[in-house]
Amino acid sequence: MRSRRMNGPGEPGYACGVSGNPLAPAWLKAPADPNELAAGVWSQNAIRAADGVIEIAGVRATELAATYGTPLYVVDEADVRSRAAEAKAAFDAAMEGIGTSAKVYYAGKAFLSTEVVRWIDAAGLGVDVASEGELAVALAGGIDPARIGVHGNNKSERQIARAVEAGVGAIVIDSALEVERVASAAARAGRVQRVRLRINSGVHASTHEYLATAHEDQKFGVTIADAPGIVAAIRSLPGLAFIGLHSHIGSQIFEAHGFAEAARRLLSLHASLLDGGPVPELNLGGGFGIAYTSADDPMPIPEIAAGMAAALAAAAGELGIEVPVIAVEPGRSIVGPAGTTLYAVGTVKAVTVETDSGPAVRKYVSVDGGMSDNVRPALYRADYSARIASRVSADHPALARVAGMHCESGDIVVRDEYLPMDVGPGDLLAVPATGAYGWAMASNYNWVPRPPVVAVRGGEARLIVRGETIEDLLARDAGRIAP
Ligand SMILES: Cc1ncc(COP(=O)(O)O)c(C=O)c1O
Repeated sequence: MRSRRMNGPGEPGYACGVSGNPLAPAWLKAPADPNELAAGVWSQNAIRAADGVIEIAGVRATELAATYGTPLYVVDEADVRSRAAEAKAAFDAAMEGIGTSAKVYYAGKAFLSTEVVRWIDAAGLGVDVASEGELAVALAGGIDPARIGVHGNNKSERQIARAVEAGVGAIVIDSALEVERVASAAARAGRVQRVRLRINSGVHASTHEYLATAHEDQKFGVTIADAPGIVAAIRSLPGLAFIGLHSHIGSQIFEAHGFAEAARRLLSLHASLLDGGPVPELNLGGGFGIAYTSADDPMPIPEIAAGMAAALAAAAGELGIEVPVIAVEPGRSIVGPAGTTLYAVGTVKAVTVETDSGPAVRKYVSVDGGMSDNVRPALYRADYSARIASRVSADHPALARVAGMHCESGDIVVRDEYLPMDVGPGDLLAVPATGAYGWAMASNYNWVPRPPVVAVRGGEARLIVRGETIEDLLARDAGRIAP
């Protein structure tokens, strides 16, 4: 394929987007209305106001941008709170239905701030952390340390000590080496530390498929074959209390098969450990998928919970054991759909590309953020969607690519989307479903300050994470010449 830059409307092939563009992927259909907010993709309280401006929880995108600038992460607070409560209710109901109970932890790696910790706490969930920093935020958010779980394949001695001293409810041991490290920290703190053991179950699930192998080639956990010896070592140490196995099979999972397969494998190992002592819990991790585009159709959490419960009940019946307390750790499905990023459009270019069916045009719409505020498109080729947030347009849909402002051709915000043909400088663009792993994975690439996070609720906005300034960044440059 060759590509040639065009200057704008009126050039050959410019209107290719009207009835579908050969450059568009098969899943992306040209919409009848490129202003429409697709159901299931936008946060629960996002609407178009009468004048066409996107409003989230009663706060206009234009006001948010004027007050806080762009790029801006906007979190629909009621959406996070209700998804957290729904996940808890779904797993409580499903596990009660098979004679046990559930513990739902929010995976803080998706997006953590003290305010989010308070929302999660109020909804009755625990919080999982994966670093010393996340632990500090969870504690600063005021959640009972007994409701914190600690993860990581290479936790530092200091991280382990801090977690034990804080009194966290569980540390997930990830390797044989960690058994002694956690036991020493527990001895120093004069505590008995509850621990889980992460198992590499050989099950790996991704959005549209799952693999079940004898052993998955990845860094997390220990093999099913090695587990009994490590559990025996844990049980032999007085400072450790073994509470169960853990497995996390992947992310952005759309159906229940992978969880069911992992549940069967883990429960069989769990049954074999009962001879050596009690195993009160089983943690099946997170990974429940969300819709980033209108083509995504994730399974509702109550159905995932029901599928998991059915698999657990059947496996426990075959093994002749009771189903233990089941823990899960959703992150993305709690905060992802509640987040929207607002950007300002700076430049627009039309690029003509030769295709088998003739020349086709893709509009490059460049915004004032990019891979520093959302690295997922560059890292995973993740797809997103976008809409003009500051107005509606009567123009045709045109195939567009929303690009960032970084010095990197892979700096894509939305790879494929139909936007109104007249999208241009001065427009605000909203990208939905950015609540998970956007801010959390943000960087200062190109010395770009990380944007603020604003929570919106009932017509009011409040800053929950301050944005960085260039001064913040320069303050860390030790060789800086004082002004
Ligand atoms: C151990 C563990 N638990 C939970 C999660 C949360 O996954 P998700 O945000 O996809 O629900 C992750 C994410 O990678 C994880 O590694």
